[in-house]
Amino acid sequence: MTYPTLQNDCFLRACRRQATDYTPLWMMRQAGRYLPEYRETRARAGSFMDLATNVDYATEVTLQPLQRYALDAAILFSDILTVPDAMGLGLSFAQGEGPRFAHAVRDEAAVARLAVPDLERLRYVFDAVSSIRRALDGRVPLIGFAGSPWTLACYMVEGGSSSDYRQVKSLMYARPDLMHRILAVNADAVAAYLNAQIEAGAQALMLFDSWGGVLADSHFRAFSLHYTARVLAQLRRVGTDGQDVPRIVFTKGGAIWLDVMRSLDCEVLGLDWTAHLGRARQQVGGVVGGAGKAVQGNLDPNVLFAPPAIIEAEARRVLEDFGTPHTDARVPGPTHIFNLGHGINQFTPPEHVYALVEAVHSHSRAMRRG
Ligand code: CP3
Repeated sequence: MTYPTLQNDCFLRACRRQATDYTPLWMMRQAGRYLPEYRETRARAGSFMDLATNVDYATEVTLQPLQRYALDAAILFSDILTVPDAMGLGLSFAQGEGPRFAHAVRDEAAVARLAVPDLERLRYVFDAVSSIRRALDGRVPLIGFAGSPWTLACYMVEGGSSSDYRQVKSLMYARPDLMHRILAVNADAVAAYLNAQIEAGAQALMLFDSWGGVLADSHFRAFSLHYTARVLAQLRRVGTDGQDVPRIVFTKGGAIWLDVMRSLDCEVLGLDWTAHLGRARQQVGGVVGGAGKAVQGNLDPNVLFAPPAIIEAEARRVLEDFGTPHTDARVPGPTHIFNLGHGINQFTPPEHVYALVEAVHSHSRAMRRG
């Protein structure tokens, strides 16, 4: 399949550690409930899954934030929990309650039943990827995504969201063999799922290890990082247009493990607001002409509740924390992709996002002029 030529490659260039005219910006959960137009489409669709499984609705809501703001990438509208749903766990989103699985994975028999799902059950996601890529018409690149094996396991074992991770950690400590089996199946399922998104037209990929940071230091490598690496090792390198497909790994709370995360076979590491981007750059960013990873992040999403002048100042602070932009177009160097440190809050005033986008683009251009 051929798609229209990409007009704005700023985000993809930054993923590849190439110099850009300004710092590209997108926001985790940029399509969602803080936007009145999303709530309107959601009301027409019915449940969240009615929205996500309908190609036209998924396309419509993916494009909504781009119609308002000068964002440099689109992200597929879907959810990380589509994969365990396709494994037969029975996902639903009760109003105001968050996700719930009808069949939580709690015992040996349930673990034994787990298998990589038939990808036909996720056809609606791949159809959405192709439809969104067409609708984007080359404006900005499209990011596909999945949950990390560990983060998916948290939801599968807990049966939904959790405040203490009691069930999943009990299983991990008491029956590590069962936990490893869940994680192995998840890794292979996520790899197949992401490869199908690449085939459908995704131009970059992101792995959300949203709950990697709840693990003890002693367990992060074996139960999160190892399986993230197992996903990365299986991914196709080239997209439908013959271009490489950059991979972003976001471990919330993961900045303390950057020294080991730098060994991951990915191009970009996502950081939450507890990290200092200058130090992250020193640890993983590499030098001009050398190898390294781009860093993505990391404004505290709650900054968006402050008045616009404060939002601008905090955006400038994040850019300055990363430091001097890489400007030599002939060689790779350390690069930054601006994002929030986690998903945008549903109560964020949509008007405040304009101030953020404007501040990031204008201040990052000014920094390049010296
Ligand atoms: O970023 C985007 O714009 C793309 C869409 C996207 C959604 N979920 C849509 C969504 C993405 C990338 C996700 C990822 C996701 N889903 C993660 C990882 C990112 C993170 O936040 O750490 C996680 C942990 C989930 C699981 C999930 N999905 C939860 C816990 C919830 C309910 C919580 C809530 O905010 O109500 C969802 C539902 C969900 N996924 C919504 C959206 C827009 C809200 C659904 C609605 O009621 O309309």
